[in-house]
Amino acid sequence: MGNDKIKHSVLTGFLLHLHPKKVNSEAIKYTRTFGLGGINILLFVILAFTGLLLRFSYMPTPERAYDSIVSFQNNTLFGSLIRNIHHWSAMFMVITTFLHLLRVFYSQSIYYERKKNWYYGLILLLVVLAFNFTGYLLPWDQLSYWAVTIMTNIIEYVPFVGEWLANLIRGGEIVNENTLLNFYNFHTALLPILSTVFVVLHFWLIRKAKGVTVANNNEQKMVNVNPALISKEVIVALFTLAVVIFIGLFFNAPLLEKANPMVSPNPSKAPWYFLGFQELLINLHPIIATLIIPSALTFFFIFIPKVSIKNEKVGRWFYSEKGKRIIVYSVLFAVVTTSLLILILEYWLHLNKLDIPLFISTGIIPLFMYLIPAGTFIFILKKKLKADKIELILALATIIFTSYIVMSFVGIWLRGEAMHLIF
Ligand code: HEM
Ligand code: HEM
Repeated sequence: MGNDKIKHSVLTGFLLHLHPKKVNSEAIKYTRTFGLGGINILLFVILAFTGLLLRFSYMPTPERAYDSIVSFQNNTLFGSLIRNIHHWSAMFMVITTFLHLLRVFYSQSIYYERKKNWYYGLILLLVVLAFNFTGYLLPWDQLSYWAVTIMTNIIEYVPFVGEWLANLIRGGEIVNENTLLNFYNFHTALLPILSTVFVVLHFWLIRKAKGVTVANNNEQKMVNVNPALISKEVIVALFTLAVVIFIGLFFNAPLLEKANPMVSPNPSKAPWYFLGFQELLINLHPIIATLIIPSALTFFFIFIPKVSIKNEKVGRWFYSEKGKRIIVYSVLFAVVTTSLLILILEYWLHLNKLDIPLFISTGIIPLFMYLIPAGTFIFILKKKLKADKIELILALATIIFTSYIVMSFVGIWLRGEAMHLIF
């Protein structure tokens, strides 16, 4: 072993097994991946470890769940810290998974042999959300009980299958002991197995594609994975660990009073990562909000990597110089249009008072108030800027991501009593 190599420890030994012996010098730059995939896997390991510790004292029944958590916090050595780390790591994981999605999307790393990994990634995103959603109920306090009630009520709005699906998830018509047991089993048994399977597949495909994508216009050489990549991974891992421990030490995971099915808080909100979705339902007819838009988005995200792209563009951040400009315009467009529409629907237009079917007044009309400007914007990009297919996909996806972020922002910070806007 050369002197420049990092000596084997459990961590480096584990990391070495994940990699080939040599890696591309471009692939290991921080600005290629920002370490986000690695941060995700580390957060998952931290969550599995702290989750396992929580399981030792957690009791999945409405009578005992809340008290078991209070007792774990107060009477177990490092109980509070362990729960805090579990809570905050889960929250970070939603954010870092989304950022990782943005990184692979905007660096054109989802085409050809990576297409399948985009799909496995989308499944992993759903798994991360399912982990968070099922975990959310477990403390059985007012926050968790009512957030899950709201979310399952939203699911009821899905046409045709909504009620059946919501009852299946809850194990009945309301959130009760069956729901808690369902969620507990999903959270601590089924989802850990499912996520392990998909993470293994995800990693195997990365290996099969010979590592992450690099733009092929740069000069490249192969370097030894140890220490070139391992040292960076150790730094990112230690930094992530330091952040979650620091936050865990100083910020307590929320815990309100024990759940009371008789007293609903006002406003009642879904978990924060679903508030963009709840916002959609506040502004649009349920058929549009829970069926048409989600189906259209699913098709769009499945369709994206099927498009053919020139080989020299694979791995290139933002695709082209024009691509960069288009993304900036799309962010601006989505921020302005989404915010304006929310304001108009809240203060000026009361479409539900029109004497026409609600599906048209509160569904089709506001939907087109968004689609017409968006269509015009895309048309201008195509005609005036001569945007090609990939640039148009970049624009559309950017509009979708930005609109969701704006709606989440409004849902988290600007909705007060009875879900009215507050400033
Ligand atoms: C893999 C094994 C895991 C086990 C055994 C586990 C176990 C548990 C247990 C027993 C609780 C209840 C304690 C509490 O609420 O404080 C809990 C809560 C929670 N878990 Fe997990 N968990 C695991 C992984 C995950 C993952 C991967 C995520 C997210 C990506 C996650 C997100 C959450 C959330 C958001 C809570 C609620 C935390 C709170 O506010 O108290 N868990 N988990
Ligand atoms: C639990 C969640 C996830 C974990 C642990 C994970 C892990 C990783 C890791 C370690 C890499 C290689 C290094 C890097 O790119 O940072 C990677 C690459 C990749 N991931 Fe993920 N990922 C997750 C979620 C996702 C999601 C949500 C997507 C997209 C929908 C996705 C799509 C991809 C793609 C396409 C690559 C290949 C990128 C390339 O070749 O440059 N992953 N992932």
